[in-house]
Amino acid sequence: MTELNGPAPAVGQEQVAETRRTYDLIASEFARQNSVAAAEVAERLDELAASVPAGSIVADIGCGPGRDVMMLRARGLHVAGIDLSAGQLRASDVPGLVQADMRRLPLQAGAVHGIWCWAALVHLPREALPQALAEFARILRSGGSLSMSIAEGDGEGFEVATPYGSDRRRWFTRYREPELTALLAVAGFSIRNIRGHRAYRDWLSVHATREPAGANGLDAVTTQNAELDGPGFVPAFAAASSAGRAKNWAEPALAYG
Ligand SMILES: C[S@@+](CC[C@H](N)C(=O)[O-])C[C@H]1O[C@@H](n2cnc3c(N)ncnc32)[C@H](O)[C@@H]1O
Repeated sequence: MTELNGPAPAVGQEQVAETRRTYDLIASEFARQNSVAAAEVAERLDELAASVPAGSIVADIGCGPGRDVMMLRARGLHVAGIDLSAGQLRASDVPGLVQADMRRLPLQAGAVHGIWCWAALVHLPREALPQALAEFARILRSGGSLSMSIAEGDGEGFEVATPYGSDRRRWFTRYREPELTALLAVAGFSIRNIRGHRAYRDWLSVHATREPAGANGLDAVTTQNAELDGPGFVPAFAAASSAGRAKNWAEPALAYG
């Protein structure tokens, strides 16, 4: 695992920091309970793989222990996993995972053809979601695909991680479809499809594409983080991009408590 986090983004920092600490502590139990992907995950992974050129570079943002990193690699993609929790990244032996905050990604503008972000944006306070979506738009090349899920509902707040046997808390923010689609549009994404599914709680999953530069004011969005542009596909990700070791995801999934 490589640590590439820059200075902490200020918006929503307390909620994000407490959530990260909780994931550090529940990581092994999280990996055990979520080792097998639900049907909705497999379907969305297939859809993402079919929407980008063969052998494309994809970032799995909020990858946790890397289950979906391996599933995307099995579909012939070059995948870098990114997560804020070092505990989560160390909970498996999946290679090519990098510690970073999704609000400040260590990737050059236009570096990836696709983004997979499953059940992770849910942990950002509502006010921080635009910053993360702007980062996604920045690193995704024009016409690239975003596949994501986020909790469906109203409000936001801390929840105790009881399903993972912990009294520590994680932040959850819930969205209704109109608000989510509006935020994605502002960030420069066109919705291809959106649907709800149930996995312990209600979720919305979305397949969207990044609009060409210039559309919908996207130029302004993508240049605001231009100073972050470093060496592009960072060395750790180059190592990550080939198919990693096989992982035996043997335990049954309980789907995101
Ligand atoms: C519910 S888990 C999902 C893990 C994986 N995507 C999956 O579907 O199994 C949410 C993940 O988001 C990560 N996360 C939360 N806030 C984050 C942030 N600001 N930047 C990057 N990762 C974050 C957590 O550490 C955790 O691993």
